[in-house]
Amino acid sequence: MKQKIALITGVTGQDGSYLSEFLLGKGYEVHGIIRRSSVDYRERIAHLEGTPHFHLHYADMSDSMSLVKLVGQVQPDEIYNLAAQSHVQVSFDAPEFTADVDAVGVLRILEAVRTNHLEKTCKIYQASTSELYGKVEEVPQSETTPFHPYSPYAVAKLYGYWIIKEYREAYNMFCCSGILFNHESERRGETFVTRKITLAAARIAQGLQDCLYLGNLDSLRDWGYAKDYVECMWLILQHETPEDFVIATGVQHTVREFATLAFHHAGIELRWEGKGIDEKGIVVESREPRVKSGQVVVAVSPDFYRPTDVVNLLGDPSKAKRELGWDPQSTSFEQLVELMVKHDMQKVTREHFNLAEYLEKGIVK
Ligand code: NAP
Ligand code: GDD
Repeated sequence: MKQKIALITGVTGQDGSYLSEFLLGKGYEVHGIIRRSSVDYRERIAHLEGTPHFHLHYADMSDSMSLVKLVGQVQPDEIYNLAAQSHVQVSFDAPEFTADVDAVGVLRILEAVRTNHLEKTCKIYQASTSELYGKVEEVPQSETTPFHPYSPYAVAKLYGYWIIKEYREAYNMFCCSGILFNHESERRGETFVTRKITLAAARIAQGLQDCLYLGNLDSLRDWGYAKDYVECMWLILQHETPEDFVIATGVQHTVREFATLAFHHAGIELRWEGKGIDEKGIVVESREPRVKSGQVVVAVSPDFYRPTDVVNLLGDPSKAKRELGWDPQSTSFEQLVELMVKHDMQKVTREHFNLAEYLEKGIVK
């Protein structure tokens, strides 16, 4: 059988790295798009570089010529369009860039496929998002829930969703959106709330940080494990007909609950006091000698409030379960928090150890 060829945009991101591993494991030839920057940050895929069947190419979602050339050169059977300015808060600061990459970027991929006359053979997965439900009109959210985007990021992603649907209907292309709810991992970007919490809990436990500042603690998310979710992206493209799917766990927790559990795994038990901007996470008990009971380790800062915030996401994954045979809870919320904290406790120890050694040797001052 001919080896399948996949092209992944956003290969250096959290999902791109897991998806690459998954597809290589399935025997695919994997091509990934990277963009030029003055510092090469490819930590998540460094272990794959140089392995057979894994290839990287320079291109950019804002540069249609680079995409047309690359799709022609690679001749992919499947494209996974994961590239995006993916941070909701950043989209308020850079709305035009977000629209260019997250909205028009999707159109550029679709047109690159058509320009190379691959529309009959190349399937396309679009990384859509639960942010489309935004100011939610029903709970839980399913494939039939109306959209109400509530950030420049969500508005850009809504264009991506509709243009995928349009090309499916107008040109009979096999292109689909996975409407994915939040998924996290030890490779999650460090400014998303879960990773920000697990890293801070690890630093605080090791006496390297005093306090973690967060925004809206009441916000509810349906958090899953990224490694489980990339399988679904693949399953969506193996489905008989091109359709959109909600991918979620069907379980919801607040940011506060995530923080309480993360600190617990870092050896610190918390209680919460106060309301809104005055709320604090206070140490009740700690097995870490550097952290004392009564110490305030979590506080609220208005800097992390958003102009409009999405506060009640809960997905209904019934369709994916039924039609793709996907298990939405293979990694539970409790397991997810534990594995992220464990990873970050080791990472912080390693970094601190290296720094101490460098200071001692005079390599850094
Ligand atoms: P991520 O870690 O932020 O990765 C984003 C990727 O997009 C990175 O590889 C980034 O490259 C690349 N990228 C950004 N702008 C680009 C451009 N102009 N040209 C080429 N590449 C560009 O995001 P993720 O968490 O893996 O998410 C993957 C996709 O799923 C995104 O589209 C996101 O919006 C969507 N999504 C994520 C979640 C979630 O909870 N993680 C949920 C729903 C939907 P650099 O490394 O060079 O920055
Ligand atoms: N980032 C961040 N930092 N969020 C905070 C903080 C903080 O200090 N404090 C509270 N939050 C709240 C946010 O207001 C939001 O309601 C919630 O925590 C989750 O924020 P993020 O982790 O930044 O993720 P997101 O839900 O906005 O966006 C992520 O998930 C989407 C799917 O629903 C991203 O991965 C998007 O790309 C993705 O589409």
